[in-house]
Amino acid sequence: LILLRSALKRGASKAIRSFSSESAPERKVAILGAAGGIGQPLALLMKLNPLVSTLSLYDIMGTPGVAADVSHINTRAQVAGFVGDDQLGDALKGADVVIIPAGVPRKPGMTRDDLFNINAGIVKGLCTAIAKHCPGALVNMISNPVNSTVPIAAEVFKKAGTYDEKKLFGVTTLDVVRAKTFYAGKGKVPVESVNVPVVGGHAGITILPLFSQATPAANALGAEDIKALTKRTQDGGTEVVEAKAGKGSATLSMAYAGAVFADACLKGLNGVPDVVECSFVQSTVTELPFFASKVRLGKNGVEEVLGLGPLSDFEKEGLEALKPELKASIEKGIKFANEN
Ligand code: NAD
Ligand code: LMR
Repeated sequence: LILLRSALKRGASKAIRSFSSESAPERKVAILGAAGGIGQPLALLMKLNPLVSTLSLYDIMGTPGVAADVSHINTRAQVAGFVGDDQLGDALKGADVVIIPAGVPRKPGMTRDDLFNINAGIVKGLCTAIAKHCPGALVNMISNPVNSTVPIAAEVFKKAGTYDEKKLFGVTTLDVVRAKTFYAGKGKVPVESVNVPVVGGHAGITILPLFSQATPAANALGAEDIKALTKRTQDGGTEVVEAKAGKGSATLSMAYAGAVFADACLKGLNGVPDVVECSFVQSTVTELPFFASKVRLGKNGVEEVLGLGPLSDFEKEGLEALKPELKASIEKGIKFANEN
């Protein structure tokens, strides 16, 4: 617990400087899929976040136990568990931020797209309920394949007449977390000072870390090192899936990444200036309708989608190479939402 708390400490201490937990506005965060591998540690981390006043934990099973457990932690957030379709509306009502890690994870040998058939329907159902019960909430989509589930969510919201492109986010923070860790390790720079933008999407070659923009500069890294770091970042999810050998995919690092991103959304809502994170959002940065890049977060969600900045030749090639796959995944999501 001490380690988990200190992992959040840097982000949280900035927030605490802006708002003590007494003066921070009331904020309700709902987690859909809260009893799962990601959902449980994410519930813990959100319970530790002083910006959260109400934590709503929803799943199709198991949430009463998770909620009872997490609720005993002596922090600000009031916790409630909701289980099953009948309670989904109450779980969502009044939510400022909805985090969605509901759905099946990969097993070795699968791609994220292999999850589409099951997860597309789950995400569609949950987003239909969000449109009805908390249409103004910021939605943090974790369920895979993110490159398709975000476009599905957008179509559901459009049909319901509630779509606001500023409020829908594909969570790609784990790619950034990995890029920072791997870069610091190879470049022998202090990990806590590293920044690396990761753009594109969230699957294989659509994950494009921009190591040419990484800070601090790690002068010892040559072209082959950058190539290897790029590949490791792109294959980070598969590395975990293989190590877990059939027991699922990244859960703990994802919970951390999800908590970092949700914290950034809350800070933005609360008016903290200069909150910037990478996310897969509606975009005009490329010709594709959705694209991950740096995003400035504000009181209404996305305040500004930032451009790519200068790219190395290697990154320019990576950008062109990822476009056909990302385009196909986006179109697949849109088609599903309109045909089902
Ligand atoms: P898990 O199987 O451990 O947990 C999923 C949870 O979702 C379960 O508790 C299940 O009961 C619940 N669920 C299923 N249908 C639901 C519904 N209709 N409503 C509410 N809850 C429902 O899986 P996990 O390891 O937590 O992974 C969840 C998802 O997150 C997967 O799709 C995985 O691929 C994805 N993921 C994304 C990233 C990312 O970087 N965006 C990282 C890791 C995992
Ligand atoms: C990840 O990047 O860890 C997730 O998308 C889960 C996966 O299937 O790799």
